[in-house]
Parts: sequence; structure tokens; C-alpha cells
Amino acid sequence: MSATDDKKLLQKRAAAATALTLVRPGEIIGIGSGSTVAEFIRLLAPLAPQIPGVVVASSASEKLALAASLRVFSLNDVAPPVLYFDGADEIDPRFCMIKGGGAALTREKVIASASGRFICMVDESKLVAELGAFALPVEVIPMAMRFVMSKLKLLGGTPRLRGDSLTDNGNLLIDVSGLNYSNPEALEREVNSIPGVVCNGVFALRRADELIIAGDTVRHLRAPVSQWK
Ligand code: 5RP
Repeated sequence: MSATDDKKLLQKRAAAATALTLVRPGEIIGIGSGSTVAEFIRLLAPLAPQIPGVVVASSASEKLALAASLRVFSLNDVAPPVLYFDGADEIDPRFCMIKGGGAALTREKVIASASGRFICMVDESKLVAELGAFALPVEVIPMAMRFVMSKLKLLGGTPRLRGDSLTDNGNLLIDVSGLNYSNPEALEREVNSIPGVVCNGVFALRRADELIIAGDTVRHLRAPVSQWK
């Protein structure tokens, strides 16, 4: 691991540690996926006896949660979580995000949308003035792959199939670069309207409510800002 990766991992851990202070005994919590979430789950382990359990967005997070002695519930079997904790691939000052670098975007969006508050945890490299340097993950049903790619090209994007591996839902992922993010909500709706698309990684209609950013220090922003300082 490079020195930069080491630093990022320490920052992710620091963001996760601050997020942990928001966990309240007795509440089921929602949890996303990725390396920041992995740090969060590890730190959550000592609190396992104090919370009923967790709802998780990926099989990877489920494995980590079970290893941390946390009970894992289906979203169908419990009341919606009050708090949802997750990372992001990019986040703008309005707290709109691109997510899905770890392929878990659909379940993440479902649990985040069901939950009361979305607490986003990032290292400072994820802050952007405008979304779009990170290619947008789009989950599609396999038989629609070529059709969806052609529609994404008409939107001005350059789509690329992400290998042969399937998501936890048995679908394919397309990563799209070159899209226009001047109106992230409109882009999210437009990509979702292509038949065969299950979900896309723009989180603008369900943005984060709070943001924990770890750089040299850790900052906790409870509302969007006009720009990053
Ligand atoms: C997974 C995600 C992750 O939140 C995103 O990729 C950030 O991951 P990491 O915490 O590893 O930087 O959306 O689908």
C-alpha cells in the first residue's frame, strides 16, 4: 500500500470513529458498503450488545457485520433505520454524491432512501466542486446491456462494461464517463428512465444529510454548504 493509500485509510478510520459517536443504543442502523464502511463496522463491534442489529447494503458488509457479532436484518423485517452510514466516491457542496464504486449502489440507495438520516463519511479526497470526474456506475439487467449503453451514448456519455462479474442482485455494471452534472437530480432521473436500468450511482434525489470529512482534522457538517473551504 502506498503512503497516500495509508493516509486515506487513516482518514477513513477517523471519519468512521466520529460517525460512531452518533450511534444510539437500542436502534437498528443502516450500513452501506466499501472500505470506509468496513472501518465503521469494525469500530461498531464493541457496541454490538447495545444495538438490536444492522441492515446492510452488500454481502461484503454482511460478512463483516457477522464477524463483528452484529445481528443482520432484512429491510423487509424491521422498521426503517433512523440513521444510515455510508461512504461516497464523490460528494459536492450540496451533498449530492456519486456512489457505487464498490458495486453496491442499488441496495445502498434503497436503504438510504428508507432511512431517516444519511450520514456520509469520507476522506477529503472525495470532495469535489462538481460531480463527474468519477465514472457513473449504472446497474443494468444483463439482457439490456447493449441497449442501455446505446442510450447512455446518446446522453453524451462514454459507457464501459465493468468486467463479467455480477452485482449482489445478479446484474451487470456499466461505468459511464463524460456525462453532464450541471443538474444532478435531472441526470439521476434521466438515467433511471432508460428501460433495463435498475439504478444509477447519482445520489441527488436522496442526498446525504450530514457529512463527516477527515483530513488533517475531522469536520462534521450537519447541512450542505455553498462551497468547500
Ligand atoms: C460502494 C460505494 C462506496 O460508498 C464508495 O465506493 C466509497 O467507497 P470507499 O469507502 O471504499 O472509498 O458506493 O458501492
